[in-house]
Amino acid sequence: MNQRNNHRLILFPLPFQGHINPMLQLGRILYARGFSITILHTNFNAPDPSSHPHFAFRSIADGLDQSKASKSDIPGLISLLNTLCVSPFEECLREMMSLQGGEAVPVACLISDSLFSFTCGVAERLKVRALMLRTGCATCLYLYTICPVLKEKYFPIHDSRLQETVKEFPPLLVRDIPAMDSQEPGLMFRLVDDLIKTIKSSPGVIFNTFEELEHPAIASLREVLSVPFFPIGPSHKFCVTSSSSSLLAEDRSCISWLDEQPPKSVIYVSFGSLAAMSEAEILEIALGLACSEQPFLWVVRPGSVCDPEWPEKSPSRFLEALEGRGKIVKWAPQNEVLAHPAVGAFWTHNGWNSTVESISEGVPMLCMPCFADQGVNARYVSDVWRIGVNLNGGLERENIARAIKRLLVSREGEEIRERALVLKEKASACVRQGGSSYQALDALVSHILSSE
Ligand code: UDX
Repeated sequence: MNQRNNHRLILFPLPFQGHINPMLQLGRILYARGFSITILHTNFNAPDPSSHPHFAFRSIADGLDQSKASKSDIPGLISLLNTLCVSPFEECLREMMSLQGGEAVPVACLISDSLFSFTCGVAERLKVRALMLRTGCATCLYLYTICPVLKEKYFPIHDSRLQETVKEFPPLLVRDIPAMDSQEPGLMFRLVDDLIKTIKSSPGVIFNTFEELEHPAIASLREVLSVPFFPIGPSHKFCVTSSSSSLLAEDRSCISWLDEQPPKSVIYVSFGSLAAMSEAEILEIALGLACSEQPFLWVVRPGSVCDPEWPEKSPSRFLEALEGRGKIVKWAPQNEVLAHPAVGAFWTHNGWNSTVESISEGVPMLCMPCFADQGVNARYVSDVWRIGVNLNGGLERENIARAIKRLLVSREGEEIRERALVLKEKASACVRQGGSSYQALDALVSHILSSE
């Protein structure tokens, strides 16, 4: 057991899978550096304490009416949480700061998700430092710093301009500019504005990325925002033992299924924890996978089809129709899947966690971004790092099959894999002693300890 350093950190993740994972990974890294960790969380999407026996957990009563927790309006949900959580968060933090909560170890600092913009103000009132965890990539945050220009020049986005290059940010195309549906017009811009203000006023920002991957954006951010940045990714690679922070049960049967497949033959298909499609799109994916004639492992999570009538049992119907060539699960142990020798490519929505996890294992990507930062991530995968291809030509079975074969069984696919393996090595090197992320982590620890 590592020596404890008599400092407690309070970590407050945004309650979505793509935000909980990197925050809990950060907790494990900092626990290994001697800090005591308390995870503060909402009742909505609460993590499972039993998977993290070394952490203390405290829930705050967010008062969120589950019926209002619509995943089809994520900006609306984030905005609602930013209102509902203020008082219970302040109350809980005040209690912990005054040690009335029975905490034996004093609080050194708070680390909040950067989309919880209200935490800065509360922390200031209670005189506790509030570092921020930004769960997306540095490039996208840098793009957000020119959001007013993008808004003026490109919004509302017209179909006729989708293939146009964003002159202020090549090689981005207009279609890649982050956008998210919300019932409230302009809400996404307000959230981005709050995010930039929060980051600017924070004493430090932690990123799940690494210098060798995003040096230009990290350097530009340091210049433009004048805030200490700590790129400590890929954060899951710092954690020696794996412990799941999945909100859904992982179906491990896919690992024994992968064991039976030839090396580098399987296309792993997953679109993260939020993206949803129509039944017609899901059917086209199924037919595309069948046409590719490659084995596939496909995550069809509950809620991934927009149609509420869509029967839960449909995946097995698909599977039967697909002549046993693939495996469908509701949730997979993704990092283990990506590290499996049978996996040859990852068809992904390019959520930032999935992108970093794929890079860490050297798995080439078939990119199909859905919303928010995903278009930016996908463009960098295909055009900058050149470790994947975009699903150009749309969600159509023959197009899908062609793209899968392009990655798995073509000369071009081999070249993409070679580049992905070079990047994998860089990702491994940066978390080793002396590596860029290792040094950033040392700097982060010193920063936290010097902040008292
Ligand atoms: C969201 C946004 O979409 C993303 O763009 C943003 O950067 C973070 O928040 P999400 O859409 O869920 O996240 O995607 P992603 O960032 O990839 O996170 C999904 C996480 O769930 C990954 O850590 C992945 O390993 C995990 N996962 C996914 C599983 O463990 N099993 C699965 O079957 C699917």
